[in-house]
Amino acid sequence: MRAILAILACAMFVSSCMDQYNPVPYWKQFTSERQITSASQLKLTDKGDLPAAKVETLAADPISEKYSSLCSSCHGVDGKADGAAALAMNPKPRNFHDKAWQAKVDDTHIAKVIKEGGAAVGLSGTMPPWGAVLSDDEVKGLIAKIRDWGK
Ligand code: HEC
Repeated sequence: MRAILAILACAMFVSSCMDQYNPVPYWKQFTSERQITSASQLKLTDKGDLPAAKVETLAADPISEKYSSLCSSCHGVDGKADGAAALAMNPKPRNFHDKAWQAKVDDTHIAKVIKEGGAAVGLSGTMPPWGAVLSDDEVKGLIAKIRDWGK
């Protein structure tokens, strides 16, 4: 009799847990969200080429492409350092619209920070070094982009 009661109690406990943490609705939501996001992803044409519109934007501004893939997670898509990752950082990534900072630094300094990282100039090591992945021309392009935000 005791054993049966114990099994019953156990079964009730498990089923109430399952009710509370039933994963099925979450799983359904996740699946539908995943379908929505992958639908907007770049799809190759039947011939296996990139879709025309996308190719144009990629070719038009390779520097913006670099910025959005390497820098925007911390410095924000429009250089304001207000992205999700930036909220948790201390010190904050540089806001490139900060005019006082723009006036204070020269291009040589910015190039050094980008290539060698924050630690190389006595700043936070959270700013990573990019010298291994960026060419000098790309660094120049990024500096120009950063300077544009200061105007
Ligand atoms: C992982 C986050 C992160 C990424 C990614 C990142 N940065 Fe930074 N960056 C920082 C932080 C944090 C600082 C502020 C360091 C400080 O003030 O001590 C900073 C500062 C800077 C500064 C200002 C240095 C100064 O003198 O104040 C420049 C310029 C800069 N980053 C450029 C870039 C560029 C260009 C990229 C992309 C190639 C990039 N960062 C990617 C976190 C990041």
